[in-house]
This record gives sequence, structure tokens and C-alpha cells, in this order.
Amino acid sequence: MGKVVPATEESIQDAAVRLRRGELVAFPTETVYGLGAAATDDRAVARIFEAKERPSFNPLIVHVAETAAIAPHVEVSDLAIRLAAAFWPGPLTLVMRRAVGAGLSRLVSAGLDTVAVRVPRHPVARALLREVDLPVAAPSANVSGRLSPTTAAHVAASLGGRVDLILDGGPCLGGLESTIVDATGAAPRLLRAGLVTVDEIEAVAGPLADAPSPSGATVEAPGMMDSHYAPAKPLRLDVSEVGRTEGLLAFGEPLSGAAVTRNLSPAGDLVEAAANLFAMLHDLDAADVTGIAVMPVPAAGLGIAINDRLRRAAAPREPA
Ligand code: TXA
Ligand code: MG
Repeated sequence: MGKVVPATEESIQDAAVRLRRGELVAFPTETVYGLGAAATDDRAVARIFEAKERPSFNPLIVHVAETAAIAPHVEVSDLAIRLAAAFWPGPLTLVMRRAVGAGLSRLVSAGLDTVAVRVPRHPVARALLREVDLPVAAPSANVSGRLSPTTAAHVAASLGGRVDLILDGGPCLGGLESTIVDATGAAPRLLRAGLVTVDEIEAVAGPLADAPSPSGATVEAPGMMDSHYAPAKPLRLDVSEVGRTEGLLAFGEPLSGAAVTRNLSPAGDLVEAAANLFAMLHDLDAADVTGIAVMPVPAAGLGIAINDRLRRAAAPREPA
């Protein structure tokens, strides 16, 4: 566990096998080290949040080897095509709409209907992505709230035994995260300042939709904003009984009597529950039920993020 190995052809192959098995692999990019997991695997993606101790499910950036590899997963706008042609491979992340039938874990979008994608330029990242031949979700490889890592030693110090393999590709030359642009509209919207400058983006895609903050400071991550997933059906939390017309979101031994039941984890495993959360909320929301009743989930470890999301989903909202 947590082994640091120099990035070589063999270690990259080993890393790809591990990613396909659902393990966590840290790898260098031109910006910072990423903590990677197969973006198609709910459970593997849930392990990222657990390892980082993220208090809520911030959406993750999905990394692919080539621009063409995003096609089945997102709706590519003209704006996205222009920006991708100019800056990929490189330190630009583009937010696009999720395609219907996208083969990505819902957890990478944290319940939003968009996906953030990037094609990194770093040779080790590219070799790994080509070898694994799957989209790889990767936030910065640090414990939540700490500095982003720019060396393999930073990763080992921050995440230690929680990552299965750390590929050492030397220090990251960028050292600052990618620029994030929302490319779902007609004009580019800056979500996070980063290695690609606003001037460079505007030269390719025209003026930004909203003026960036004067300090150029990072915009709050959407996980912290109000654009979180809320089901259309009313949600009751911490239930100890369930109505016959309700959908039950169970954890552990399920209550009986619900119209439809989805079980986050029959065994009471929080990693499994996190992996299932968004997909099961979507299922119950779409089912023929009057509301969703959620059994208690322990508020420890990954359970804190799960409860945070459930509370947001249950919060009173404005009429649509
Ligand atoms: O340079 C980077 O971008 C590094 C390397 C590893 O690629 N990754 C990185 O990931 O910085 P992370 O998780 O630390 O930051 C990702 C940011 C978060 O602020 C998240 O809210 C935002 O991307 N994000 C992800 N998906 C999004 C989406 N669908 N819509 C809007 N923002 C999104
Ligand atoms: Mg980060």
C-alpha cells in the first residue's frame, strides 16, 4: 500500500491494471499530482472521497488520453471543440453536459448534469491513460483542505497508505491546478483560474460570459454552491418507518413496507453506500412513488459526506 515507484513502462502497466481493478493510483500531471480511479466504477470513485476525507461530494475532473475519448460521455458544444483544439492536451478543464447514457459514475458529477473533462499533457499521465483505456477521475492527490501535491513525496506524506500505488514522475512543472471553463453555454464561463490564462481563453473563444473576480481568485467549488442535486420528489431523512407509497433508500437491514426499495449497502459499508448514492436517488426519483424515505446513515468517515448530500437534497427549496 502507498508504494512510490518511478514511472516506467512496467510500473505504468501495473498502474493501469490496478485502475481497471478499482484501485487508487496517484500519478503526475503537468499541473499537480492526481489521485486517480476508474471513472466508470462507482465504488472506485467513492474510494477517492474516502481517501481525501472530503466532507461533501465535490464533482471530480475526468481525465482521458485523447479528445475523441470524451465522445460517448458528454455533449460536445462548438465552444468546447474550439477550446479543446486550442488547449488539449494541456491544463484546461472543460465542463460539458453529461450525455444520456454516459458510461461514467454519477459520483464524478456529484449529481450535477455536467462533467468536467481534461486531456493532460504530462507524458506519464498520457501513457497511463492510453494504457488503461478508461476515463480516469482524479482530484488533486491531497487530503481535503491541504495543499495540492507537486511531488510524489507530497502525495505519500498526505495520503500515505490510502493509495494503492504512487507513480513518481518527478516534480510537476505547472504546480497550479488547471483552469476550469464552463463550455455549456455560448460564451466561456471561468469557474477556476489556473495555468491557462483568461487572455489565452478569450483569444480563442471570445469574451468570458461573466467577469472573473478582480483578484482572479478561485471561484468556490460547485460542491459548496447551490447547484447541487435535489430530487424532484420530497425527501424524508432518518426514517424509522416507511409509507406504502414511498420509495425507501435503505442502509443496512431495510425497513419493510415501501413501494420500492434501493439499498445503499445491505452490509452497512459506507464506501459502497457512497458509490450507490446518486444513482439510487435518481432511480427512486424516477420510480412511481410519492416521496423518498431515507434510513439513517452513520455520520462518520465517508458518512459525513453522504449525510451532507442527503441534507442538501432534503432542504426546502423554492418552487421551480
Ligand atoms: O489540475 C487539475 O485540475 C488537477 C489535476 C489532477 O488534473 N485536478 C484537480 O482536481 O485540481 P480537484 O478535484 O482538486 O478540483 C476539481 C475542481 C473542483 O473545484 C470541482 O468543483 C470542479 O473541478 N468541478 C468538477 N466537476 C465539475 C462540474 N461538473 N461542474 C463544475 N465544476 C466542476
Ligand atoms: Mg484540489
